[in-house]
Amino acid sequence: MVLRENADVERRTRRTVRILVFAASLRSASLNGSLSGLAARVAEQKGAMVTRARMADFDCASYNEDQEDASGMPAGARRLHDLLIANDAFMIASPEYNASMPGVLKNVIDWVSRMRPQPFNGRQGLLLSASPSMAGGNRGLWALRVPLEHLGARIYPDMFSLAQAHEAFGPDGRIANPTLQERFDETLDCFLDLVEAAQHYHALRKQWIEFLGEKPDPATNRTEETHVNAA
Ligand SMILES: Cc1cc2nc3c(=O)[nH]c(=O)nc-3n(C[C@H](O)[C@H](O)[C@H](O)COP(=O)(O)O)c2cc1C
Repeated sequence: MVLRENADVERRTRRTVRILVFAASLRSASLNGSLSGLAARVAEQKGAMVTRARMADFDCASYNEDQEDASGMPAGARRLHDLLIANDAFMIASPEYNASMPGVLKNVIDWVSRMRPQPFNGRQGLLLSASPSMAGGNRGLWALRVPLEHLGARIYPDMFSLAQAHEAFGPDGRIANPTLQERFDETLDCFLDLVEAAQHYHALRKQWIEFLGEKPDPATNRTEETHVNAA
C-alpha cells in the first residue's frame, strides 16, 4: 500500500511526455480504433500530451523505389514521419491479419524507413491489439516488433492484446472487465514511466547501425547517432 501511495505521488509529478497514438485499421468501426481511443484517454489522464492520428492519414501507394526516385515521399509517409519527430513515443493499436500486421501499416513503415532522420530510431513504442479472437491479435504484434526494432525503436517488452474485443468494451468505451481495465492502466503507466525516464534523465545512450557486422564504407553506411537523453 505504501508503494502504491508513493507511485501515485510520482504520477502526479511526472514530467511531460508527448505520445502519438493511432490504430492501424482503415475501418470506421475499428476495434483497434476503440482501443487506441481508450489508450489516448488513459495516457492523458496520466499526464501525457497525446496526439491522435488515423491510419487514413498515413495511407500510401505500395512502396516502389521508382516512385520514390521520381516523386519522393508520399504525403502519408511524410505525415507519419513528422508526427513521430514531434513526439517522444508512440502507441499503435494494430489488427492482426493472418498472424501478422496489416499490409497498410508495413507499407508506410517501409516508406518512412527511407527518410532521414529515420524517425523510429530511438523512439519508445507500446504495441496494443484488439481482435474478436481468443488471442486478441497478439501474434500480429510479435510480427510488428520486428521491423520497428530493426529500425531502432525501443519497443516496450509488455504488450496488451484485447481478446474477444467485439464484446469487451462497455458503453463508456472502457474495458468492461475491471481487472482487464486495471491491467491496461498499469501497462500504460509503466510505459509512460519509461518514456519519461528515457526522455528526461541521462540513462539511455544508443546508436543505430542497420547492418552491424558490415565493413564500414561511406557508400553503404546506414548509421545514425541518436540523442534520446537530451533533457
Ligand atoms: C484479411 C484479414 C485477416 C485476418 N486475420 C486474423 C488473424 O490472423 N487473427 C485474428 O485474430 N484476427 C484476424 N482477422 C480478424 C480481425 O481481427 C478483425 O477483423 C478485427 O476486427 C480487425 O481489426 P479492426 O476492427 O481494428 O479493423 C483478420 C481479418 C482480415 C480482414
